[in-house]
Amino acid sequence: MPNESFSVLFKNKIKEFNKITQVDSDKSISIRSFLISSISQGVSEISNVLESEDVFSTINSLKKLNCKIKKIGKKKYKVYGKGLGSYYTKKNTTLNLGNSGTGFRLITSIISTTPNLEVVLTGDSSLKKRSMSKLIALMNEFGAEFFPKYKVHPPFKIKSSEMPIGINYQSGKSAQLKSAVILAGLNSFGNTTVYEKLKTRNHTENILLKNSKSIIFKKNNLFKIVGKKNLSEINIKIPSDPSSAAFFTAICLLNNRSKLKIKNVCLNPRRIGFYNLLKKYGAKIKMINKKKENNEIVGDIIIESSKMRPIKSKPTHYLSATDEFPIMFVIAALTNGISKFYGIAELANKESNRILEMKKILNKIGIKCKSTKDSIIIFGRNKIFKKKSLIRVDCKKDHRIAMSSAVLALNTGMNFSIKGFDTVKTSSPSFLKIVKNLGGKFEIKKKA
Ligand code: S3P
Repeated sequence: MPNESFSVLFKNKIKEFNKITQVDSDKSISIRSFLISSISQGVSEISNVLESEDVFSTINSLKKLNCKIKKIGKKKYKVYGKGLGSYYTKKNTTLNLGNSGTGFRLITSIISTTPNLEVVLTGDSSLKKRSMSKLIALMNEFGAEFFPKYKVHPPFKIKSSEMPIGINYQSGKSAQLKSAVILAGLNSFGNTTVYEKLKTRNHTENILLKNSKSIIFKKNNLFKIVGKKNLSEINIKIPSDPSSAAFFTAICLLNNRSKLKIKNVCLNPRRIGFYNLLKKYGAKIKMINKKKENNEIVGDIIIESSKMRPIKSKPTHYLSATDEFPIMFVIAALTNGISKFYGIAELANKESNRILEMKKILNKIGIKCKSTKDSIIIFGRNKIFKKKSLIRVDCKKDHRIAMSSAVLALNTGMNFSIKGFDTVKTSSPSFLKIVKNLGGKFEIKKKA
């Protein structure tokens, strides 16, 4: 993909295909691997890294905090960790986490309990609109302070805690906040106890499991982080991202007589709610060759074009399908019947307000939607009147809005111009290349 901002123009419906593909590596695990190895003692090796903007902004911020990171091969990096509390930088250094909420929240948490740090945290125009109020409240509990007081949107300054002490935490719907508490707990005195009321993605816990003195499970949903225990280096191979695979799954499901195999995907049960839910409503999806690698389940996904039924998603489905709602809305829009999604209020604080942005896009192609703050009802149709005029989408620096719109274009054959498509580089730099391999046609227009 070119470096500057660009639009992508889609004009044709994708033809039938039967293919095997690999998608980009997992974003959540890539970011966590760099962060945890940066505070481990020793040289960690991370392979099959997602080389995307969100991961680069974490790597660059770590470098500014005096951590040495070296690329040693194709998607392969060495991280020279100097241990807990080792970050160091000049007062008022600015760390720019770009578009990445995960990078932002997780690095902030490590900084919070690294004494003697005063840095400015910022991001791009999308990140600057995202509320960090819950993160700030939690890091205040560890003793970190934020300035200006009461400012909850980046940029703001953090002054780390001089005497961080572990906290008791009951986690909610956010894996980022749970991970932030875990990471802050690692360099705090005493224990940090996490009671997981709701089961969100657990990659942080899975990476830490190797350090059995740092994370101790009392029950399935109750664990403690024992502060000030040295972490040993990690060696990890990152599997493919089930959230990136979701877009190609949708293209195949909605297409005619097509089949797709996506290899080596992270099939952590807390990440595959999208696939499980769709299977319930008629999707022909199989998961095969499952194995355990670095405490994560990895396997291949096989998808066949399917006649879908309308989807009903309850609040409990949110947790394991968090990032897949925009693409689920596309599937619902192109499936006959009324699909209903409840308990999705958190989507308003993602890279864009995903309920509102998707509703706008679906309205443009003549699909009726009714939404509230935490739900959307989509009146789907598998045969829609094909508009001849150009449908213009602004993806508002939200990669998942961009990719969902691309799927809508490819599966309807309508003319779409998607502005700011370059934002896809934050999570899935190979997206367009894979679309092309499946036979999808598009034109890149520079200067969006
Ligand atoms: C992520 C957690 C989710 C998700 C994000 C990645 C993570 O955010 O939307 O893309 O890596 O922990 P929340 O924890 O805010 O729901």
